[in-house]
Amino acid sequence: MPSHALTPTCAVGVVGAGTMGAGIAQVAATAGHQVFLYDARESAAQEASIRTAAQLRQLAAKGRIAAADAEAIAARIVPCAQLGQLAPAQLVIEAIVEDLEVKRALFVELEAIVAPTAVLASNTSSISITAIGAALARPSRFAGLHFFNPAPVMKLVEVVSGLASAPETIERLLATAEAWRKVTVRARSTPGFIVNRVARPYYAEALRLYEEQVADPATIDAILTQSGGFRMGPFALMDLIGHDVNYAVSRSVFDAYYNDPRFRPSLAQLELVQAGWLGRKTGRGFYDYGEGACPPEAASAPAPVASQPFDVDLLDGELILDGVLIATTDGRTAEERARAIGRSVILVDLMLDRATAGRICFSTSRDVPSAVLSRFLATLDKMDKVATHLPDWPGLVAMRTVAMLANEAYEAVLHGVSDEAGIDAAMRFGVNYPLGPIAWAKRIGPERIAAVIDAIFHLTHDPRYRVSLGLRRAVAQER
Ligand code: NAI
Repeated sequence: MPSHALTPTCAVGVVGAGTMGAGIAQVAATAGHQVFLYDARESAAQEASIRTAAQLRQLAAKGRIAAADAEAIAARIVPCAQLGQLAPAQLVIEAIVEDLEVKRALFVELEAIVAPTAVLASNTSSISITAIGAALARPSRFAGLHFFNPAPVMKLVEVVSGLASAPETIERLLATAEAWRKVTVRARSTPGFIVNRVARPYYAEALRLYEEQVADPATIDAILTQSGGFRMGPFALMDLIGHDVNYAVSRSVFDAYYNDPRFRPSLAQLELVQAGWLGRKTGRGFYDYGEGACPPEAASAPAPVASQPFDVDLLDGELILDGVLIATTDGRTAEERARAIGRSVILVDLMLDRATAGRICFSTSRDVPSAVLSRFLATLDKMDKVATHLPDWPGLVAMRTVAMLANEAYEAVLHGVSDEAGIDAAMRFGVNYPLGPIAWAKRIGPERIAAVIDAIFHLTHDPRYRVSLGLRRAVAQER
């Protein structure tokens, strides 16, 4: 089997004409392939091709593509009434129901239909590629090709190797997805692959802070977007994804890792699922999307009246002002640090970029004089930063979240799921993180990241906050 990209003259088969299958068919057709689209439900493939044609015409109407191209792309998608019509395909991508036995049965059937040189791929999000491949007579030509929703828009494709996938199969899929203008990353078939695993702490830490009543969803979302630089806060994102889907992914990763507490799902999210508050699609999740509903405001500390701002850049390293230490969190609470150094402490949360951060989250030790706190707030006000004063919690919000994302990323590298560059690219292009978690950890310093997690562990004794040996290794290398 050749390891270069599939040439546009080769036909592609797509099985399953739902959300993902229709999107993948559009991607392949846009790259010039004739696409045979099949679905078990009669008329589903036909409906999907009509929907896709309408979307392509909309893109043409907006001037994103030429009208002639829209028609040509749509015409290359051929709805099929029988699976046998996929016989000419050199690559078949499966995007059917998420069920191991149904997928296995489909691939057994497909093997008897396509040429021996054809590559077979699954778009599964959560089923082992090795387990699906085991049903095939020739599992070497099978691998995962994991697109993100919506497939025509999202840049990332994880190319997932099962135990029996041949290197040529992986190379061919990587080259083909790149020719389709996707960013590709290699992943080993492990639960959640890269993105659905490494992203878990983004939701889990936010849910935990909410459950511990540190802050409400609007405040946590505001901190992570306006200070952390994430495009969307975790609660808004979960509402968008749907709590049924997000909870099911969390559950499946938790189960697959034998109930590792790192992946423990949230009871608060389960309750939303039980209530049928699934997010935007049902009009209510953490937020209310009903007509006339007002988006809740994030908690902000009011700017004090007539307090003299400090005449320094408050956010530049560690400062002692009026006897109070102002520093970025290293995971310990302000109270712990105050005890260690014998002076009052104001701790500031992580910012992606302190110049552009619109919000500053901070906590204080118990004894910070109110006059100093007022001057601190007046200074932030002068810098045009909105302030959020949180309870004195270890790691605050953005630092804790980024530390846990980085820890999971290092753990995935340690286990050979992908390399550092692959994991960072996956998180940037699969879920739009402003920086890859490993690049972010290196910018902050792996030592600080490990210290944050150690500090949370020290207070909670929850094994979820154990530092990955991959992160420890990075700390040792920095020294
Ligand atoms: P969907 O429910 O929108 O579409 C699945 C389609 O497969 C349906 O049209 C159904 O009639 C058809 N189907 C079911 N069994 C079939 C069979 N035996 N043969 C042929 N067609 C069959 O599902 P969706 O969301 O498109 O997901 C499909 C796959 O893609 C799943 O494996 C899922 O885990 C994966 N995936 C989903 C993502 C998402 O955000 N929805 C993202 C990435 C992967």
